[in-house]
Formats: sequence, structure tokens, C-alpha cells
Amino acid sequence: MTEVRTGLGWDTHRIAPNRALILGGVTIPSEFGLEGHSDADILSHAVTDALLGAAGLGDIGMHFPDTDPRWKGASSDRFLAHAVALVRQRGFTIVNIDSTVILERPKLKDHRAAIRQTLARTLGLDAERVSVKFKTAERVGPVGEGKSAEAQAIATIQRSPAEHGGV
Ligand code: C5P
Ligand code: MG
Repeated sequence: MTEVRTGLGWDTHRIAPNRALILGGVTIPSEFGLEGHSDADILSHAVTDALLGAAGLGDIGMHFPDTDPRWKGASSDRFLAHAVALVRQRGFTIVNIDSTVILERPKLKDHRAAIRQTLARTLGLDAERVSVKFKTAERVGPVGEGKSAEAQAIATIQRSPAEHGGV
């Protein structure tokens, strides 16, 4: 019988001047960006954690500790690609990803297609299986006050008995 699993991912980073705003591997034109040891791509980090969670493989910090100089300034595509490889090694295929970025500004909706396509390429999926949604925090709390941004993601993966040795 096909085994279906889901995993949840979440991330937040502070907003900072003189940093790029990178979401799902796409650089968004913006007066400010997100602070972090890596490129601070909250969306890629949330999707990475969702995939690791679905496969029961821990979290992003376990695989890429932010104390390790190898990951300083690292492009988060690499984290995501690594999580995809780990999930596939265990015989899973990715069914779909859904996600939400919560950011007061800039408006992101014009970048939805580019973000979906970029994430889909790293995930090895059709863009139709990758959903990206955007919300403001209605000017409330740290996100609403423009101090930080958040991303949430959920991943569904599946594995049929034939795909992992006929068990
Ligand atoms: O947060 P709110 O419900 O007001 O968002 C309305 C719409 O604005 C969202 O559905 C989304 O399409 C868009 N949005 C956006 N960029 C953001 C926040 C929201 O494009 N940073
Ligand atoms: Mg992060």
C-alpha cells in the first residue's frame, strides 16, 4: 500500500538593510533584505524543513549547522537540493508543496510565477505542484511592524512498496 506522509516547516529571519531579499531562490527587488548566516531564504528553509520532517530526517540545522563556516552565505538552493536527495534516497517521491510567506512589504504577488518555477526546478517537480502564497501580518506584531518575515510550508511525499524494496 502506498505510504503518504506530510511534513511541516517554518522559518523566520529579521529584516535588515543592505541585505538581499531572496525567497525561494529568487532575488526580489527591495530596499531591505533578511539577516542570516546563510542567504536567509526563509521560504527555501521552510520547504527544506517540511521535506526533512515528512521523511523523519530531523531539521535543517542538524544537516547544515549555522556554526559551520562551510555554510556561511550559502545559497539555500543547496540545502533544499540536499533535502530532496535524502528524501529520494529513502524511496519517496514528492507529491506537492504548499507554502505561505508572511511579509508586510514589498508586494510579492508579481514574483509568484518565478518563485514557483525556481523552487519547482530544485524540487524536480512541475510548478503546478508547488504552491506559494503571500500574506501581510496586518501591521501587527514583529512581522507587521516590518522587523521580520516568516515562511510556512507543508510537504506531502509518498512511497509505494515497490519503490523501497518491495517491503
Ligand atoms: O495580508 P493580506 O490578506 O492583506 O494580503 C492580501 C493579498 O496580497 C495576498 O493574498 C497576496 O496575494 C498579496 N500579498 C503580496 N505580498 C505581500 C503580502 C500580500 O503580494 N507581501
Ligand atoms: Mg532560515
